[in-house]
Amino acid sequence: MAALLRVDCVSKSFGGVAANVDVSFEVAAGEILGLIGPNGAGKTSLFNAIAGEVTPDRGEIRLVGERISGLGPVTCAERGIGRTFQVVRSFDSMTVLENVMVGAYARHRRTAPAMKAAMETLDFCGLASRADRPAYNLSPPEKRRLEVARALATKPRLLLLDEMLTGLTPTEAQSGVQLIRDVQAQGVTIIMVEHVMEIVLPLVSRAVVLNLGRVLTIGSPEEIVRNPDVIRAYLGDRYAAA
Ligand SMILES: Nc1ncnc2c1ncn2[C@@H]1O[C@H](COP(=O)(O)OP(=O)(O)OP(=O)(O)O)[C@@H](O)[C@H]1O
Ligand SMILES: [Mg+2]
Repeated sequence: MAALLRVDCVSKSFGGVAANVDVSFEVAAGEILGLIGPNGAGKTSLFNAIAGEVTPDRGEIRLVGERISGLGPVTCAERGIGRTFQVVRSFDSMTVLENVMVGAYARHRRTAPAMKAAMETLDFCGLASRADRPAYNLSPPEKRRLEVARALATKPRLLLLDEMLTGLTPTEAQSGVQLIRDVQAQGVTIIMVEHVMEIVLPLVSRAVVLNLGRVLTIGSPEEIVRNPDVIRAYLGDRYAAA
C-alpha cells in the first residue's frame, strides 16, 4: 500500500539533547498508528517536526510523496496535517465555536462558510450544545474534544493526537476512543501518542516505539507487547508474562 506519510532518517537536537535520532517509518493511508515510548522519548518532538513547527537537522518527511519538512506549520496544515497539543491550547476567552473557526479558516476565507464548517465539526465531536460557551467553561474531557475539533476543522488527511486521552476517567476515555474511531471512519489517517496501553493497543494496526529519540521497534500490538526490548525500556514487568 502506498504510504501517506514517510518519515525518513529524521534527527533533531536541542542544544545537547538529541530529541530524535535517525527516525524512519511509514504510515499507510487509513491506518491508526501508535507512537509510544517513555517520557522524553521524542514523541512530541516528532509531532512538531511532522506538523512543520520545527525543522529537522537531518532527514526529511514526505506527505503523499511531497516533502513537507521545513515548510512551517501553516503550509503543513494546508497540505493536510492536523494536530492536537499535549497541553491543550484552547483560546479561553473565545467561544467554543470561535475556537473551531480558527481551524476552519485554514480551508475557508469567508466567515459564513467557516462558521458552518465549524458547527458541523462541533456536532461531529459531540460539542454542538457547547458552541456559544467560552472555552474556559468546558470540562477537561470537553477541552480534549475541542482540541480534536479545532484540528479536524482544518480538514486534515493526517491527524496527530498527542495524549488526547491522558488524565481522563475510563468512561471518558472510552468515549474519546469512539471519537477516534469515528474520525478514522471519515477517511482520516491518525498517529496517536498515548501512554495507556490498554487503550492504545486495541486501536492501532501498528505501533512505533521510541526510546531515547530512536526507533526501538515497529510492529503489531501483539509483537510490541512480546518484544523484550520494549518490555525492558517501557512496558515493564506487568507485560512480561503476557
Ligand atoms: N524545544 C525544545 N527545547 C529543548 N529541548 C527540547 C525541546 N523539545 C523537546 N526537547 C527535549 O527533547 C526530548 C524529547 O522530548 P519530547 O517532548 O519529544 O518527549 P515525549 O516523548 O513527548 O515525552 P512525554 O511522554 O513526557 O510527553 C526531551 O529531553 C525534551 O526535553
Ligand atoms: Mg510528549
